Amino acid sequence: MSPSSPSPGTVLALFSCKGGVGTTFLTTQLASLLALRWQLRVLLVDGVQSFGDAALMLSQHEPRASLEDLLRHPERFDPALLESALLWPLPGLGVLAAHDDPLQMRTLPPEGLRIFLETARKRFDCILFDCGRMADPAMMPLLNGADRLLPVLQTTLPMIRDGRRLLSALIAQGIEPARLVPVLNRVTPQSSPQPKTMEQALGARIVHRIPEDTALVTACIHGGQALWTLAPFHPLCQNLITLARTLIPAPEPRSAAPRGLLQRWWKKQWRWNPQHS
Ligand SMILES: Nc1ncnc2c1ncn2[C@@H]1O[C@H](COP(=O)(O)OP(=O)(O)OP(=O)(O)O)[C@@H](O)[C@H]1O
Ligand SMILES: [Mg+2]
Repeated sequence: MSPSSPSPGTVLALFSCKGGVGTTFLTTQLASLLALRWQLRVLLVDGVQSFGDAALMLSQHEPRASLEDLLRHPERFDPALLESALLWPLPGLGVLAAHDDPLQMRTLPPEGLRIFLETARKRFDCILFDCGRMADPAMMPLLNGADRLLPVLQTTLPMIRDGRRLLSALIAQGIEPARLVPVLNRVTPQSSPQPKTMEQALGARIVHRIPEDTALVTACIHGGQALWTLAPFHPLCQNLITLARTLIPAPEPRSAAPRGLLQRWWKKQWRWNPQHS
């Protein structure tokens, strides 16, 4: 843990209410933001059982091991084993990749997940899980142990039905509604149904809305770049910062916004464009 946060690390579980909503993009960018701007020690775990791609969005290196590999013998799991399995795409950001062969996957032992969280909380300020499409009861120990659960949604009609079912199922499992932080991704002024209608239909307040910008997101993903370095003043990045502030009990960042011609240009763009004011 960093010297500024002696308390145990915060566990955040992000999951999709439907495939392709942007959970992996948001998880990787939130993790990068916390490591770069807040200079926290961050662990990102790809918990997607088949073809998880969180590590691929951040690093070109071959993954060393997955969560499933580490928890095959929970009694042997220790901090050294965890450290040895991680990729480090950024200073302060360790990534545990998904298993590369879904057909060889075994169910995660519930006791293993509990031990994993206990160890990770002592060594990292923040632990983010990309849980993908949440439909696996084996992940319940994670959801029970997480500080915040972030269901990711988009403004589409089928999402209302799936989102509602998932949120109700989680609450029925004993998850306190206060721990649920729904995030609406890819919001545009033309979004239909409108976010307010989504809230009414879902029966949940959606405070966090992430705007859509295909060109910027593609540039981040293809270039393996963090939003915070590429476009720190873009509303997409600013909304992620607001989200991070509500999730992490951390002091204000020690690092200043990245400086440079590109950043100054972005800042002017978003200040002068009346559409975004
Ligand atoms: N705010 C956004 N604006 C524009 N495009 C976005 C945004 N968020 C995500 N995307 C795009 O949506 C696509 C899906 O993103 P991502 O892989 O993160 O979704 P996912 O929910 O993890 O999908 P999967 O169900 O396959 O795990 C990507 O091509 C990404 O570029
Ligand atoms: Mg994904």
